[in-house]
Amino acid sequence: MISRDVAQRIPKVSLHCHLLGSVPAATAVELTARNGVRIPGNPGADSVYDSAAYEDLGEFLSVYDLIGAALHDRDDYRRITYESLTTFGADHNVWYREIFVSPQPSPLPYPTALAGILDGIRDARTDTGIESRIIIAINRQHTVAEALSLVEQVIEHRVDEVLGIGLDYEEVLGPPAPFAPVYALAQKAGLSRTAHSESGPPAQIEVLLDELHCTRIDHGYHVVTDERVTQRCVEEQVPFTCTPVSSDIGRYSGSGDGSHRRIRQMVDAGLRVCIDSDDPPMFGTDPSNDYYAVGNALGYDVAQMVTFTANAIDACWLDSSDKDALRARLASWTDHGMEMNR
Ligand code: ADE
Ligand code: ZN
Repeated sequence: MISRDVAQRIPKVSLHCHLLGSVPAATAVELTARNGVRIPGNPGADSVYDSAAYEDLGEFLSVYDLIGAALHDRDDYRRITYESLTTFGADHNVWYREIFVSPQPSPLPYPTALAGILDGIRDARTDTGIESRIIIAINRQHTVAEALSLVEQVIEHRVDEVLGIGLDYEEVLGPPAPFAPVYALAQKAGLSRTAHSESGPPAQIEVLLDELHCTRIDHGYHVVTDERVTQRCVEEQVPFTCTPVSSDIGRYSGSGDGSHRRIRQMVDAGLRVCIDSDDPPMFGTDPSNDYYAVGNALGYDVAQMVTFTANAIDACWLDSSDKDALRARLASWTDHGMEMNR
């Protein structure tokens, strides 16, 4: 069992956190009010995020979209990026994050949004030391043509910080296979690839690997219901970015009882599991709390929790020298921090 304090101190590498899902409640209320976006019920900061009230993923995403619609200038993006990387990042000993950015709900042109995000990344690094990069997330509920146009813009306005693309929103409303040409374009341009696969079935994981050529899977809990696909993912050491609290609250993983049993099955099967917080304030969590929740539900010790971070280092899209630097830093923390944190 680990304490909350230890969960906070364990170094973290964050591969599954959404920018629009990590806006502090007070900021969400301020930006929506200032930019004329009405959230139904006119909630205050104490009630704008009511994870217990989201009937389903769609209801959660409607709030997520309103926050995106409220981003009207470069500084709005700088501010939310900074707050995500500090309040829901460095404050929880997140050393490095690849943050999902959903440009589609905002009225701002992509290059302006990108400039603001880069400002936030720079300021957060200056103030806290956190390193971060960007994954451009495609809304699978919109058309493939729109996704292609987004990736074309990403390529046209290419910066080193944008490492790859992702695919999110409701799986049942946007199956992955039609996005293969979009992913092919990204691959040709040297962008890395991941995609959400939270509600299943396991065959979708093979679509992501074989048709979208993903090198990671976001969530992917249903993999353990198919022995062959599980074995394949073990052999290929496919990384899975799991988000215990949001998936449990959302009941997308098919449990919703706080047991996180799917994550246990994945770890026991030998899959390469990473832990993150998805949309932390929207689901009443933060990176430390997700480590704490899964660690306590499954009885993991500090060494296992550090393994989740080591898995995320292996799975991240930095180049090998940057990964080696993170590995050395984690090894040094383990040498000096482990005793203290037992
Ligand atoms: N976008 C942001 N969070 C998401 C989630 N948990 N599932 C699908 N799309 C998302
Ligand atoms: Zn997600």
